[in-house]
Amino acid sequence: MSEPQATHLKDYLPPAYRVTHTELKFDLAPSATTVTARLHVERHPEREAGLPLRFAGDKLSLVRIAVDGQTLEADEYEVDDEGLTIPSVPERFLLDTEVSIDPAANTALEGLYVSSGMFCTQCEPQGFRRITFYPDRPDVMATFSTTVVGDKTEAPVLLSNGNPVESGELPGGRHFVTWEDPHPKPSYLFALVAGKLEKVEDRFTTMSGRDVTLQIWVEPENLDKTDHAMASLKRAMRWDEETYGREYDLDRFMIVAVNDFNMGAMENKGLNIFNSAAVLTHPQTATDAAFQSVEGIVAHEYFHNWSGNRVTCRDWFQLSLKEGFTVFRDQSFSADINSAPVKRIEDVSFFRTAQFAEDAGPTAHPVRPDHYIEISNFYTLTIYEKGAEIVRMLRHLLGWETFRQGSDLYFARFDGQAVTIEDFVDCMAEVSGLDLSQFMRWYSQAGTPEIDAHGEYDYAKCEYHLRLSQRTPPTPGQAEKQPLHIPVRMGLVGTKSGNDMALTLDGESLGHETVLHLRDTEQTYVFTGIDEAPTPSLLRGFSAPVYLRYPYSREELSFLLTHDADDFNRWDAGQRLTMLALDDLIAAHRNGVEKVMDSRVIDAYRRLLTTETDDKAVLAEMLTLPSEAYIAEQQPMVDVDAIHAARVFVKQSLATALRDEFLAMHEAHRSDEPYAPEPDQIARRRVKNVALEYLMSIEDEEGVALAEAQVDAEDNMTDVRAALTMLVHSSRSDIAEPALKAFGEKWAHDPLVMNQWFTIQVTRPQEDVLERVKYLMAHPLFSLKNPNKVRALIGAFAAQNRVNFHRLDGEGYRLLADVVIELNRLNPEIAARIITPLTRWQRFDEQRQALMKAELERIRAEELSPNVFEMVERALA
Ligand code: ARG
Ligand code: ZN
Repeated sequence: MSEPQATHLKDYLPPAYRVTHTELKFDLAPSATTVTARLHVERHPEREAGLPLRFAGDKLSLVRIAVDGQTLEADEYEVDDEGLTIPSVPERFLLDTEVSIDPAANTALEGLYVSSGMFCTQCEPQGFRRITFYPDRPDVMATFSTTVVGDKTEAPVLLSNGNPVESGELPGGRHFVTWEDPHPKPSYLFALVAGKLEKVEDRFTTMSGRDVTLQIWVEPENLDKTDHAMASLKRAMRWDEETYGREYDLDRFMIVAVNDFNMGAMENKGLNIFNSAAVLTHPQTATDAAFQSVEGIVAHEYFHNWSGNRVTCRDWFQLSLKEGFTVFRDQSFSADINSAPVKRIEDVSFFRTAQFAEDAGPTAHPVRPDHYIEISNFYTLTIYEKGAEIVRMLRHLLGWETFRQGSDLYFARFDGQAVTIEDFVDCMAEVSGLDLSQFMRWYSQAGTPEIDAHGEYDYAKCEYHLRLSQRTPPTPGQAEKQPLHIPVRMGLVGTKSGNDMALTLDGESLGHETVLHLRDTEQTYVFTGIDEAPTPSLLRGFSAPVYLRYPYSREELSFLLTHDADDFNRWDAGQRLTMLALDDLIAAHRNGVEKVMDSRVIDAYRRLLTTETDDKAVLAEMLTLPSEAYIAEQQPMVDVDAIHAARVFVKQSLATALRDEFLAMHEAHRSDEPYAPEPDQIARRRVKNVALEYLMSIEDEEGVALAEAQVDAEDNMTDVRAALTMLVHSSRSDIAEPALKAFGEKWAHDPLVMNQWFTIQVTRPQEDVLERVKYLMAHPLFSLKNPNKVRALIGAFAAQNRVNFHRLDGEGYRLLADVVIELNRLNPEIAARIITPLTRWQRFDEQRQALMKAELERIRAEELSPNVFEMVERALA
């Protein structure tokens, strides 16, 4: 087998031939589906005449092929592993093909496959080539007409993109529906679903008064789990009209829930296909976090209808054009309908944990990569989340009104086209008059920029000098970096008043908060008229995706924790304060010295617990300790055991010192209201469960009794899951085991709940967990073929159970590598994702490095899919 080859951005050329209209007919059968295609093909006007035609195709058996009705002879075309070549074709012609495919054998879940007895598709990025021979690239946009033929009992429902135009009965117990999608689209937005599905229906009237039918299609047993997704969809549709002026453009919008799905969901035109975990909710089966994630994903996919579908990507290097913008849009939506500061805190703490790690590791890549082997490997936190941070910076650089004008211009100018990131940024530059050329480096430079900040107060002159310097560390393939244009939102907090001081810079008065534009390697800002020593509050709201260092004292952090006007920075000050304490404790653990808790952290927590606050959601965030993964990101070398021990020590010290306060906090946030996934209630439950978690960390008798009672809560999974997790992760197996057993029996019929049951068990920090992981992998309800189960069990173990995954006997690594090797054959995309923790070996001690590398080498010795090959090559490079 030859080594997979890389594709380069610099080699982009328009296709030699494009398709303007696509007619498809599917004759569905699980193991032998016939796909008949009639493609209206023409030479691309920008390419020369006489080029051979080359269409992609993967695992297709060709039955028939004709050009303008003439069947081709065997020597007139060629089919290889990657597609079809016809050396000579007319300028404009009809291409007819008939292929046979095997959806039942498709465990990769790309193209057409069978999930729980139903047919469904996933075509982004390159799944359509597993359906028919096609120029399977996003810059080829065609109108589609799709006829789906299926068995009336096995597949009573037959769906595709657009509007149904014809349907009828066929001999042999079969029937058909023809769908027409009038909007030209790339093949990656094609979708088909067929099976025994039932729907929940609603309506939406658009801003111009058009009536849209909304449908959510699910398996019959899930009909009671669609309310929240439907409500979220309607809110998202309204929000996009009000916020971006974007209206829906078809008569119907459909969502389908499928059980086997590689990602969260997919924005196929008019027919979004969702991982059931990203759409189904019920108070008794889904946690608050799941409700909020469904809300965000439903909105995300809906927003793609404009940012992605109406205006799409020229090539896959531009993936962040649609994903970064759409993530920014869904984050803004969730912020608007929930607590904005909390949404920001959640997004940033996830970003600084997971994206920072990616950007610092061997698979670091720019938001617009310049080459890839397997594009499926680039659906990353960098493309999505860092891409969203870049759009957010643009929004702040331009101001909302101007940014919105830029967005309007972008949609108007490029509607129906496949475009580039420059096209987007150019619109923003045009409406604002800003020079964004330096800003564009955010798209081409990988790595997290580091800002070092230094402040000095000059009493005599009443001046405050703030010096900022920036540096982006080298990343694979990019040794040298150039300075970026970094917006630093900041204020100076008066040490006596606790208020933001008036800012004057170069004689210009700027109000109480400003955005500094750091463009050089080093810049000094002199604020005048500062009549008392200030504490700087920098990078408010995380105004740029950078690592900020400032030598804050613990006193300054305690001060900001109370006084910073920016909620986000108040939270961040608390995190930094706790991090300083954790650093000391990690060092103490490593050196075998007695651990002593910093009393300033206890005081800060006491203040949080005893000061009345309206914003319970922010309070819950403030009370939450940084995760082990986040702490690890802050260390030069990761010592998993010391981090775990230090964090447990902080939790227990706080619980011991503030036991009564936590109990009171728990008590004050209980409620008898019937469950609703509303922000206020969600915040109360969070505060209550965070408080209980502290109490459970010392296995306080009252805490244990509260948790034991809460496990039986009838009305919501949030409380049940929180309590069950605390018990299972404690030493009280006398209570935990019967509770786990009862839970497992009660929910054996519901895969999404059983996935939570897996996760709760494999994240248990105790040493015996590896046996449990292996036992659960053999459980009848577990299957490597279902990505949700793989994530719930293997993914959760490797990412959230750091002490056990990184065991010094290497058993955790071996287990993951075994899974990667098996998944490499079954589902390469999932294999290449689940391998991630092993690729981060550089961050650990030598012994672990050697063990991790040995497992990577063992994987490399296999016959690998391009997906896993690329990940392993980059990890070992
Ligand atoms: N465009 C989808 C979304 O972000 C993700 C599809 C990714 N598919 C894949 N096979 N990697 O909403
Ligand atoms: Zn997306």
